[in-house]
Amino acid sequence: MGNEESVFFSRVLTELTLSFHIIYATIGVGVPLMIMIAQWVGIKKNDEHYILLARRWARGFVITVAVGVVTGTAIGMQLSLLWPNFMELAGQVIALPLFMETFAFFFEAIFLGIYLYTWDRFDNQKKHLLLLVPVALGASFSAVFITIVNAFMNAPQGFDLVDGELVNIQPLVAMFNPAMPTKVAHVVITAYMTSAFILAAIAAFRLLKGSDHVYHKKALFLTMKLGLIFSIGAAIIGDFSGKYLAEYQPEKLAAAEWHFETEGEAPLMLYGVLDGQEVKYAITIPYALSILAHSDPTAEVIGLNEFPEDEIPPLYIHYLFDTMVTIGMLMIMVSGLYWLGKHMRWRFIHSRWYRWLIVAGGPLTVIAIEAGWWYAEVGRQPWILRDIMKVPEAATTSGHVDTMLYLFATLYLILGVGSVVVLRRMFRKNPVEREIADREAEVREGTRKGGDHR
Ligand code: HEM
Repeated sequence: MGNEESVFFSRVLTELTLSFHIIYATIGVGVPLMIMIAQWVGIKKNDEHYILLARRWARGFVITVAVGVVTGTAIGMQLSLLWPNFMELAGQVIALPLFMETFAFFFEAIFLGIYLYTWDRFDNQKKHLLLLVPVALGASFSAVFITIVNAFMNAPQGFDLVDGELVNIQPLVAMFNPAMPTKVAHVVITAYMTSAFILAAIAAFRLLKGSDHVYHKKALFLTMKLGLIFSIGAAIIGDFSGKYLAEYQPEKLAAAEWHFETEGEAPLMLYGVLDGQEVKYAITIPYALSILAHSDPTAEVIGLNEFPEDEIPPLYIHYLFDTMVTIGMLMIMVSGLYWLGKHMRWRFIHSRWYRWLIVAGGPLTVIAIEAGWWYAEVGRQPWILRDIMKVPEAATTSGHVDTMLYLFATLYLILGVGSVVVLRRMFRKNPVEREIADREAEVREGTRKGGDHR
């Protein structure tokens, strides 16, 4: 295999691993918070249904964590094996958050184990709930630390390169790079948002399939409310991400917006097709790109004309950006209307078509996550470390990457299908109605026994 081929296969394998891992990682970051909120609401309202929500979500969560750990380990391995030159250089500067991510994960895993095995062991439920705090914190901080590494790839700092040698290394300066605040915030909040809408989709699906239990209605209400809050947050932070790009990575924003010439009063282009440098059939929103980039409708936005041709990212990222933003806006509308409909007692929010729309929201937000990451990664091309190292310079020269690709693709297929089968079986074998009846019987039994002793 030639050098070009090993670069190609290394890219495909990394893209495949990240695209697969991100689904489980996103659920892994968001669901602990959902469990915590459900249990807290349950304790506050003394409502067993919310407590059961927390119990059932926690059981499903364990399966997704397991797959997330396997694929996360694969990424760590592939970073060193497929991109050795990048790791040699960047590893010396940005190893700190990589290690911290591992600690955050251990922190989460230890408390998750204790949490799962101590249901019903505490007289005071609040003490059990406290065990979830480190789980949710650990999960979110794993995302924070690993996203810091990604932010560093976009805005490297905290070292000097003198004759190819790294000097003056400052790990904290590297961590707190300009890309870090918006990236970390956007990644964490979109993980919460996606988890809320996946859980909402499951509740809406159960209601559509004929289970009219109030448990599912409560689950839908809680997750849609949280989904609304997080999706508004995602859009606000997304706007800050646009401003970050305008200042530090203008080529990524310009390529996403097919903005060829530097100019003021720049319009935002949605959808459309490209004919040379002419944009056709796009929906044009006047001044919107200037506002997104600088909060000023007349501000100048840097165009692609300012960059050498071989440093312009692929222009198809326009569609990835549009997909992400469209889904974000759609989910704000769907959850906003649901919330409003609940308060105004509009009947259409209980209609079949609306519930199907909520079901679609689950996979759609996962697509938004994928589109967001593809946009962020492809938009950094041709650089692996912006302005310092290009992707081909970083890659392995090994001749066996194609074999690794086929083996990993098979592993992901098995893990993907396996996790879905296990999750379906787990919940089908133990439907909500039966679990509620069992728990009520347990409580009655417990009260009777308690009464006998007295
Ligand atoms: C609604 C309006 C939204 C705007 C304006 C927006 C804006 C952005 C921008 C500018 C970036 C690139 C940041 C960078 O490369 O530094 C980005 C990345 C990303 N977006 Fe969005 N986004 C929005 C909604 C969403 C939604 C709904 C999701 C997923 C549910 C999402 C997921 C992501 C992800 C995972 C990334 C990659 C990580 C990152 O670079 O921050 N975004 N977004």
